[in-house]
Amino acid sequence: MILAQVTVSKMTSSIKGNTSWSAPSNIALVKYWGKRPVQLPGNASLSLTLEKSRTRVDATWFESATPGLNFTFENKEMPSFGAKVEKWLSSLALTYPRLKELQITLNSSNTFPHSAGIASSASSMAAMAFVVSEIVGLKSDDETAWLQEVSSIARLGSGSAARSLFPHAATWGQESQQWGSGVKNMHDVYRTFGDAILVVDSGQKSVSSSQGHALMDSHPFKELRYQNANKRVVDLLALLQHDNFEVFAQLVELEALELHALMMTSNPSFILMKPKTLELIERVRTARAQGHEVCFTLDAGPNLHLLYPQRGREFVLAFVAKAKADGLLDNGQWIDDHVGAGPRKEA
Ligand code: PMV
Repeated sequence: MILAQVTVSKMTSSIKGNTSWSAPSNIALVKYWGKRPVQLPGNASLSLTLEKSRTRVDATWFESATPGLNFTFENKEMPSFGAKVEKWLSSLALTYPRLKELQITLNSSNTFPHSAGIASSASSMAAMAFVVSEIVGLKSDDETAWLQEVSSIARLGSGSAARSLFPHAATWGQESQQWGSGVKNMHDVYRTFGDAILVVDSGQKSVSSSQGHALMDSHPFKELRYQNANKRVVDLLALLQHDNFEVFAQLVELEALELHALMMTSNPSFILMKPKTLELIERVRTARAQGHEVCFTLDAGPNLHLLYPQRGREFVLAFVAKAKADGLLDNGQWIDDHVGAGPRKEA
Protein backbone atom coordinates (compact mmCIF):
# COMPACT_ATOMS: atom_id res chain seq x y z
CA MET A 1 0.00 0.00 0.00
CA ILE A 2 1.14 3.50 -0.73
CA LEU A 3 0.82 5.50 2.43
CA ALA A 4 0.50 9.16 1.84
CA GLN A 5 0.98 11.90 4.34
CA VAL A 6 -2.53 12.89 5.24
CA THR A 7 -2.95 16.62 5.14
CA VAL A 8 -6.01 18.71 5.67
CA SER A 9 -5.76 22.30 4.55
CA LYS A 10 -6.98 24.55 7.32
CA MET A 11 -7.79 28.16 6.72
CA THR A 12 -8.77 30.75 9.23
CA SER A 13 -12.33 31.08 8.04
CA SER A 14 -12.96 27.74 6.37
CA ILE A 15 -11.84 24.17 6.12
CA LYS A 16 -11.66 22.66 2.69
CA GLY A 17 -9.88 19.95 0.82
CA ASN A 18 -10.00 17.35 -1.85
CA THR A 19 -8.63 13.85 -2.24
CA SER A 20 -9.00 10.58 -4.16
CA TRP A 21 -8.47 7.10 -2.86
CA SER A 22 -8.99 3.68 -4.36
CA ALA A 23 -9.40 0.42 -2.49
CA PRO A 24 -9.72 -3.13 -3.74
CA SER A 25 -12.42 -5.69 -3.20
CA ASN A 26 -11.47 -8.78 -1.23
CA ILE A 27 -12.51 -12.40 -1.44
CA ALA A 28 -13.11 -14.14 1.88
CA LEU A 29 -11.60 -17.59 2.28
CA VAL A 30 -13.20 -17.87 5.71
CA LYS A 31 -16.48 -15.98 5.59
CA TYR A 32 -17.98 -13.41 7.90
CA TRP A 33 -21.61 -14.46 8.19
CA GLY A 34 -23.59 -13.31 11.20
CA LYS A 35 -23.10 -10.19 13.31
CA ARG A 36 -24.13 -8.37 16.45
CA PRO A 37 -24.37 -4.65 17.19
CA VAL A 38 -22.60 -2.50 16.26
CA GLN A 39 -21.36 -4.28 13.15
CA LEU A 40 -19.25 -6.76 15.13
CA PRO A 41 -18.63 -10.16 13.55
CA GLY A 42 -20.06 -13.41 14.86
CA ASN A 43 -16.80 -15.11 13.90
CA ALA A 44 -13.29 -14.37 12.67
CA SER A 45 -12.80 -14.16 8.89
CA LEU A 46 -9.84 -14.14 6.51
CA SER A 47 -9.65 -12.79 2.96
CA LEU A 48 -7.31 -12.33 0.04
CA THR A 49 -7.01 -8.73 -1.12
CA LEU A 50 -7.75 -8.35 -4.83
CA GLU A 51 -6.07 -5.91 -7.19
CA LYS A 52 -8.14 -5.11 -10.25
CA SER A 53 -11.63 -5.10 -8.73
CA ARG A 54 -11.42 -1.68 -7.11
CA THR A 55 -13.50 1.34 -6.20
CA ARG A 56 -12.15 4.85 -6.58
CA VAL A 57 -13.67 7.66 -4.56
CA ASP A 58 -13.05 11.31 -5.49
CA ALA A 59 -13.94 13.78 -2.78
CA THR A 60 -14.12 17.50 -2.15
CA TRP A 61 -15.31 19.22 1.01
CA PHE A 62 -15.65 22.66 2.51
CA GLU A 63 -17.05 24.22 5.63
CA SER A 64 -20.60 25.38 5.00
CA ALA A 65 -23.59 26.93 6.69
CA THR A 66 -25.62 24.30 4.82
CA PRO A 67 -23.67 21.11 5.46
CA GLY A 68 -24.63 17.91 3.67
CA LEU A 69 -23.62 15.20 1.26
CA ASN A 70 -23.70 15.22 -2.51
CA PHE A 71 -23.13 11.60 -3.54
CA THR A 72 -22.86 10.22 -7.05
CA PHE A 73 -21.98 6.80 -8.38
CA GLU A 74 -20.09 6.96 -11.66
CA ASN A 75 -21.19 10.60 -11.93
CA LYS A 76 -24.88 9.71 -11.69
CA GLU A 77 -27.24 9.98 -8.78
CA MET A 78 -27.81 6.73 -6.92
CA PRO A 79 -30.24 7.50 -4.09
CA SER A 80 -30.16 4.03 -2.50
CA PHE A 81 -26.38 3.98 -2.05
CA GLY A 82 -26.29 7.72 -1.28
CA ALA A 83 -28.72 7.17 1.63
CA LYS A 84 -26.50 4.39 2.99
CA VAL A 85 -23.41 6.63 2.84
CA GLU A 86 -25.30 9.50 4.45
CA LYS A 87 -26.42 7.29 7.35
CA TRP A 88 -22.87 6.03 7.82
CA LEU A 89 -21.45 9.59 7.83
CA SER A 90 -24.09 10.69 10.36
CA SER A 91 -23.14 7.85 12.69
CA LEU A 92 -19.44 8.76 12.28
CA ALA A 93 -20.20 12.40 13.12
CA LEU A 94 -20.76 11.33 16.75
CA THR A 95 -17.03 10.55 16.92
CA TYR A 96 -15.82 13.10 14.35
CA PRO A 97 -18.04 16.21 14.81
CA ARG A 98 -16.25 18.04 11.98
CA LEU A 99 -18.28 15.92 9.54
CA LYS A 100 -21.40 17.81 10.64
CA GLU A 101 -19.98 21.14 9.51
CA LEU A 102 -19.06 20.28 5.96
CA GLN A 103 -20.56 20.14 2.53
CA ILE A 104 -19.06 16.93 1.14
CA THR A 105 -19.10 15.78 -2.48
CA LEU A 106 -18.24 12.15 -3.18
CA ASN A 107 -18.13 10.35 -6.51
CA SER A 108 -17.56 6.61 -6.38
CA SER A 109 -16.65 4.51 -9.41
CA ASN A 110 -15.80 0.85 -9.86
CA THR A 111 -13.20 -0.63 -12.17
CA PHE A 112 -15.44 -3.64 -12.69
CA PRO A 113 -18.76 -3.49 -14.53
CA HIS A 114 -21.80 -2.78 -12.40
CA SER A 115 -23.55 -5.58 -14.29
CA ALA A 116 -21.05 -8.22 -13.15
CA GLY A 117 -22.97 -8.97 -9.95
CA ILE A 118 -19.80 -8.43 -7.92
CA ALA A 119 -20.36 -6.88 -4.49
CA SER A 120 -18.66 -3.52 -4.23
CA SER A 121 -19.47 -2.56 -0.65
CA ALA A 122 -16.07 -3.70 0.68
CA SER A 123 -14.04 -1.73 -1.86
CA SER A 124 -16.24 1.36 -1.77
CA MET A 125 -16.52 1.64 2.01
CA ALA A 126 -12.77 1.04 2.38
CA ALA A 127 -11.97 3.80 -0.13
CA MET A 128 -14.47 6.12 1.56
CA ALA A 129 -12.99 5.36 4.98
CA PHE A 130 -9.62 6.67 3.75
CA VAL A 131 -11.38 9.77 2.44
CA VAL A 132 -13.06 10.29 5.84
CA SER A 133 -9.70 9.83 7.50
CA GLU A 134 -8.40 12.80 5.52
CA ILE A 135 -11.49 14.91 6.02
CA VAL A 136 -11.34 14.57 9.80
CA GLY A 137 -7.55 14.92 9.83
CA LEU A 138 -6.51 11.52 11.20
CA LYS A 139 -2.75 11.39 11.23
CA SER A 140 -0.66 8.63 9.69
CA ASP A 141 2.40 9.01 11.96
CA ASP A 142 1.66 5.69 13.68
CA GLU A 143 0.71 3.60 10.68
CA THR A 144 -0.68 0.65 12.65
CA ALA A 145 -2.89 2.77 14.88
CA TRP A 146 -4.05 4.84 11.90
CA LEU A 147 -4.98 1.76 9.87
CA GLN A 148 -6.86 0.34 12.85
CA GLU A 149 -8.94 3.48 13.04
CA VAL A 150 -9.55 3.64 9.28
CA SER A 151 -10.49 -0.05 9.29
CA SER A 152 -12.91 0.56 12.13
CA ILE A 153 -14.51 3.40 10.15
CA ALA A 154 -14.77 1.13 7.09
CA ARG A 155 -16.25 -1.69 9.20
CA LEU A 156 -19.14 0.53 10.27
CA GLY A 157 -20.02 0.97 6.58
CA SER A 158 -19.65 -2.69 5.61
CA GLY A 159 -18.14 -5.45 7.73
CA SER A 160 -16.03 -6.99 4.98
CA ALA A 161 -14.61 -3.52 4.15
CA ALA A 162 -12.59 -3.74 7.38
CA ARG A 163 -10.35 -6.23 5.53
CA SER A 164 -9.90 -4.26 2.28
CA LEU A 165 -7.15 -2.02 3.71
CA PHE A 166 -4.25 -4.43 3.72
CA PRO A 167 -1.94 -5.88 1.08
CA HIS A 168 -2.30 -9.54 0.10
CA ALA A 169 -4.45 -10.91 2.93
CA ALA A 170 -6.27 -9.78 6.03
CA THR A 171 -8.20 -11.07 9.00
CA TRP A 172 -11.00 -9.46 10.96
CA GLY A 173 -12.28 -10.67 14.30
CA GLN A 174 -9.03 -12.53 14.89
CA GLU A 175 -6.85 -9.84 16.52
CA SER A 176 -9.76 -7.50 17.08
CA GLN A 177 -13.48 -7.36 16.39
CA GLN A 178 -13.24 -3.61 15.80
CA TRP A 179 -10.78 -3.61 12.93
CA GLY A 180 -9.05 -5.82 10.41
CA SER A 181 -5.34 -6.72 10.42
CA GLY A 182 -2.93 -7.57 7.64
CA VAL A 183 -1.61 -11.15 7.42
CA LYS A 184 2.15 -10.85 7.63
CA ASN A 185 3.49 -14.39 7.64
CA MET A 186 2.63 -15.67 4.22
CA HIS A 187 4.38 -17.86 1.66
CA ASP A 188 5.21 -15.90 -1.51
CA VAL A 189 2.98 -18.14 -3.62
CA TYR A 190 -0.13 -16.51 -2.10
CA ARG A 191 1.10 -12.95 -2.73
CA THR A 192 0.51 -13.40 -6.44
CA PHE A 193 -2.40 -15.87 -6.30
CA GLY A 194 -4.87 -15.61 -9.17
CA ASP A 195 -8.62 -15.13 -8.77
CA ALA A 196 -10.60 -15.66 -11.97
CA ILE A 197 -14.08 -14.40 -11.11
CA LEU A 198 -16.56 -16.29 -13.27
CA VAL A 199 -19.84 -14.42 -13.63
CA VAL A 200 -22.54 -17.07 -13.72
CA ASP A 201 -25.41 -14.67 -13.10
CA SER A 202 -25.08 -10.90 -13.06
CA GLY A 203 -28.55 -10.27 -11.62
CA GLN A 204 -29.38 -8.62 -8.32
CA LYS A 205 -28.53 -10.79 -5.30
CA SER A 206 -31.67 -12.50 -3.97
CA VAL A 207 -30.51 -12.04 -0.38
CA SER A 208 -28.68 -8.89 0.71
CA SER A 209 -25.80 -9.37 3.11
CA SER A 210 -27.67 -7.59 5.92
CA GLN A 211 -30.60 -10.00 5.46
CA GLY A 212 -28.11 -12.86 5.35
CA HIS A 213 -26.32 -11.85 8.55
CA ALA A 214 -29.70 -11.52 10.30
CA LEU A 215 -30.56 -15.10 9.34
CA MET A 216 -27.73 -16.27 11.58
CA ASP A 217 -29.35 -14.76 14.70
CA SER A 218 -31.68 -17.72 15.10
CA HIS A 219 -29.84 -20.27 12.99
CA PRO A 220 -29.85 -23.78 14.52
CA PHE A 221 -26.15 -24.24 13.58
CA LYS A 222 -25.04 -20.80 14.79
CA GLU A 223 -22.72 -21.82 17.64
CA LEU A 224 -21.14 -24.68 15.72
CA ARG A 225 -20.66 -22.42 12.70
CA TYR A 226 -18.89 -19.73 14.74
CA GLN A 227 -16.60 -22.35 16.31
CA ASN A 228 -15.80 -23.88 12.91
CA ALA A 229 -15.02 -20.54 11.32
CA ASN A 230 -12.82 -19.36 14.19
CA LYS A 231 -10.84 -22.61 14.06
CA ARG A 232 -10.58 -22.40 10.28
CA VAL A 233 -8.99 -18.95 10.47
CA VAL A 234 -6.34 -20.30 12.85
CA ASP A 235 -5.75 -23.32 10.59
CA LEU A 236 -5.57 -21.18 7.47
CA LEU A 237 -3.13 -18.71 9.02
CA ALA A 238 -0.81 -21.66 9.65
CA LEU A 239 -1.44 -23.08 6.16
CA LEU A 240 -0.67 -19.80 4.43
CA GLN A 241 2.91 -20.10 5.59
CA HIS A 242 3.45 -23.11 3.33
CA ASP A 243 2.94 -23.88 -0.32
CA ASN A 244 0.54 -26.82 0.08
CA PHE A 245 -2.18 -26.26 -2.48
CA GLU A 246 -4.16 -29.46 -1.94
CA VAL A 247 -4.76 -28.82 1.77
CA PHE A 248 -5.51 -25.16 1.04
CA ALA A 249 -8.05 -26.16 -1.62
CA GLN A 250 -9.87 -28.59 0.68
CA LEU A 251 -10.24 -26.03 3.46
CA VAL A 252 -11.32 -23.21 1.16
CA GLU A 253 -13.93 -25.25 -0.74
CA LEU A 254 -15.38 -26.74 2.44
CA GLU A 255 -15.76 -23.25 3.85
CA ALA A 256 -17.49 -21.90 0.73
CA LEU A 257 -19.95 -24.78 0.73
CA GLU A 258 -20.55 -24.34 4.46
CA LEU A 259 -21.60 -20.72 3.83
CA HIS A 260 -24.09 -21.92 1.23
CA ALA A 261 -25.25 -24.77 3.49
CA LEU A 262 -26.01 -22.16 6.16
CA MET A 263 -28.14 -20.25 3.69
CA MET A 264 -29.93 -23.37 2.53
CA THR A 265 -30.78 -24.29 6.13
CA SER A 266 -31.83 -20.79 7.23
CA ASN A 267 -35.43 -19.87 7.80
CA PRO A 268 -36.35 -18.61 5.24
CA SER A 269 -34.01 -20.71 3.16
CA PHE A 270 -32.03 -19.54 0.12
CA ILE A 271 -30.36 -21.47 -2.65
CA LEU A 272 -27.98 -19.02 -4.27
CA MET A 273 -26.01 -21.40 -6.45
CA LYS A 274 -27.31 -21.89 -9.98
CA PRO A 275 -27.08 -25.08 -12.05
CA LYS A 276 -24.16 -23.49 -13.91
CA THR A 277 -22.39 -22.88 -10.59
CA LEU A 278 -22.63 -26.60 -9.83
CA GLU A 279 -21.45 -27.53 -13.32
CA LEU A 280 -18.38 -25.33 -12.84
CA ILE A 281 -17.72 -26.79 -9.37
CA GLU A 282 -17.77 -30.28 -10.84
CA ARG A 283 -15.34 -29.21 -13.54
CA VAL A 284 -13.00 -27.70 -10.91
CA ARG A 285 -13.03 -30.89 -8.88
CA THR A 286 -12.42 -33.03 -11.95
CA ALA A 287 -9.51 -30.78 -12.94
CA ARG A 288 -7.99 -31.10 -9.48
CA ALA A 289 -8.38 -34.86 -9.51
CA GLN A 290 -6.34 -34.73 -12.73
CA GLY A 291 -3.58 -32.83 -10.94
CA HIS A 292 -4.37 -29.21 -11.83
CA GLU A 293 -3.92 -26.64 -9.10
CA VAL A 294 -7.23 -24.81 -9.05
CA CYS A 295 -9.97 -24.53 -6.44
CA PHE A 296 -13.09 -22.44 -5.93
CA THR A 297 -14.75 -20.21 -3.42
CA LEU A 298 -18.11 -18.44 -3.47
CA ASP A 299 -19.54 -15.29 -1.98
CA ALA A 300 -23.20 -15.03 -1.04
CA GLY A 301 -24.17 -15.50 -4.68
CA PRO A 302 -23.81 -17.78 -7.70
CA ASN A 303 -20.49 -16.49 -9.12
CA LEU A 304 -17.46 -18.70 -8.79
CA HIS A 305 -14.01 -17.46 -7.80
CA LEU A 306 -11.31 -19.73 -9.22
CA LEU A 307 -8.24 -19.50 -7.02
CA TYR A 308 -4.90 -20.68 -8.31
CA PRO A 309 -1.14 -20.24 -7.98
CA GLN A 310 0.37 -18.41 -10.98
CA ARG A 311 2.17 -21.58 -12.10
CA GLY A 312 -1.31 -22.97 -12.93
CA ARG A 313 -2.44 -19.92 -14.95
CA GLU A 314 -2.21 -21.48 -18.39
CA PHE A 315 -4.60 -24.25 -17.38
CA VAL A 316 -7.01 -21.79 -15.75
CA LEU A 317 -7.13 -19.63 -18.90
CA ALA A 318 -8.03 -22.73 -20.93
CA PHE A 319 -10.64 -23.70 -18.29
CA VAL A 320 -12.26 -20.25 -18.50
CA ALA A 321 -12.21 -20.26 -22.32
CA LYS A 322 -13.98 -23.62 -22.33
CA ALA A 323 -16.56 -22.45 -19.73
CA LYS A 324 -17.21 -19.39 -21.89
CA ALA A 325 -17.53 -21.43 -25.08
CA ASP A 326 -19.95 -23.79 -23.31
CA GLY A 327 -22.22 -20.87 -22.30
CA LEU A 328 -21.59 -21.16 -18.55
CA LEU A 329 -20.73 -17.48 -18.12
CA ASP A 330 -23.35 -14.72 -18.18
CA ASN A 331 -22.61 -12.79 -21.38
CA GLY A 332 -19.20 -14.46 -21.32
CA GLN A 333 -18.19 -12.22 -18.41
CA TRP A 334 -15.27 -12.93 -16.13
CA ILE A 335 -12.70 -10.85 -14.30
CA ASP A 336 -9.04 -11.77 -14.47
CA ASP A 337 -8.03 -10.66 -10.99
CA HIS A 338 -5.23 -11.55 -8.60
CA VAL A 339 -3.97 -10.82 -5.11
CA GLY A 340 -2.71 -7.26 -4.82
CA ALA A 341 -1.05 -4.55 -2.81
CA GLY A 342 -4.11 -2.88 -1.28
CA PRO A 343 -5.47 0.68 -1.23
CA ARG A 344 -3.85 3.67 -2.94
CA LYS A 345 -4.08 7.39 -2.62
CA GLU A 346 -4.84 8.38 -6.21
CA ALA A 347 -4.69 12.14 -5.99
O1 PMV B 1 -19.62 -6.98 4.47
P1 PMV B 1 -20.95 -7.56 4.19
O2 PMV B 1 -21.97 -7.19 5.22
O3 PMV B 1 -21.42 -7.26 2.79
O4 PMV B 1 -20.84 -9.16 4.30
C1 PMV B 1 -19.99 -9.93 3.50
C2 PMV B 1 -20.40 -11.35 3.53
C3 PMV B 1 -19.60 -12.29 2.65
O5 PMV B 1 -19.13 -11.62 1.50
C4 PMV B 1 -20.52 -13.42 2.19
C5 PMV B 1 -18.44 -12.93 3.38
C6 PMV B 1 -17.23 -12.08 3.66
O6 PMV B 1 -16.62 -12.31 4.69
O7 PMV B 1 -16.86 -11.24 2.82
